[in-house]
Amino acid sequence: MQLTDPKGKMHTITLEAGKQFHTHRGILSHDELIGGPDAVTVGIGTTTYLALRPLLPDFVLSMPRGAQVVYPKDSANIVGMADIFPGAHVVEAGVGSGALSMSLLRAVGEGGRLSSYERRADFAQIAQDNVERFFGGPHPAWSITVGSLEQELDETDVDRVVLDMLAPWECLDAVSRALRPGGVLCCYVATTTQLSRTVEGMREHGTFTEPESWETMLRGWHVEGLAVRPQHRMVGHTGFLCTTRRLADGVEPPLRRRRPSKGMYGEALTERTAPTAVTDAPDLPKEPFRPNLP
Ligand SMILES: C[S@@+](CC[C@H](N)C(=O)[O-])C[C@H]1O[C@@H](n2cnc3c(N)ncnc32)[C@H](O)[C@@H]1O
Repeated sequence: MQLTDPKGKMHTITLEAGKQFHTHRGILSHDELIGGPDAVTVGIGTTTYLALRPLLPDFVLSMPRGAQVVYPKDSANIVGMADIFPGAHVVEAGVGSGALSMSLLRAVGEGGRLSSYERRADFAQIAQDNVERFFGGPHPAWSITVGSLEQELDETDVDRVVLDMLAPWECLDAVSRALRPGGVLCCYVATTTQLSRTVEGMREHGTFTEPESWETMLRGWHVEGLAVRPQHRMVGHTGFLCTTRRLADGVEPPLRRRRPSKGMYGEALTERTAPTAVTDAPDLPKEPFRPNLP
């Protein structure tokens, strides 16, 4: 349960019969909440707390972390834009603290399959504890392998692959072998240099469609009486997302329509993407611009 005091300070506790929760304001017996309804108020000393079962975003932001987690706004974006569907076979790496794993498990459901790979055994353990605490036990769709994805992955016919790691471009061969034609690869990276290397790696690989890249910025609003305005503070940057899809074997990616700027790529890449026909030139307006005057 998540207990929130009148100032908005939160405590997350796991209810266990006979246990107590101590604050400087007093003591709460877990038994007062066990078996009762969700979304109630409880008194601790003279203070009233709101007691709610945490939603997944609340849980993720308050759970123990090994590695930095994927923020809920990005997890939601990944589930939506990478089209993670009930029953899907999804591969994920790295697992870190397990935040994204939980959203993926929710999306694939008990009839799906999430195979997660994590290099560090200590992080894998933290993730496993977090996932089991959130779902109330082991999730039937989840398996976790300790090791590097590019060395361990030998699954095939995978619907979706989601990578949150330092160097996703090192995994492109393994991912390409695993994904079924039409399957989606979605990468989450923190910096522009990682984004560039990932996207160029996807293009160079030759088995993926033209990648799409974006970021999302979430700005909360303060709404109180006549004071309706954006919140003064926001999380300005979390990460970039990019997606691409696996082409069927033997299919060449179509030539890109837009001309790359001079000197933008190394030689090998310029050769493959260099425009060969007039149709490759950037789209130009066919008529001179006429302002719409009265
Ligand atoms: C930022 S964390 C992932 C956080 C996670 N998505 C979450 O929401 O909690 C990145 C993780 O990727 C792992 N990692 C990096 N490269 C890897 C690889 N090639 N294979 C497997 N795991 C890898 C790291 O050990 C680290 O735990």
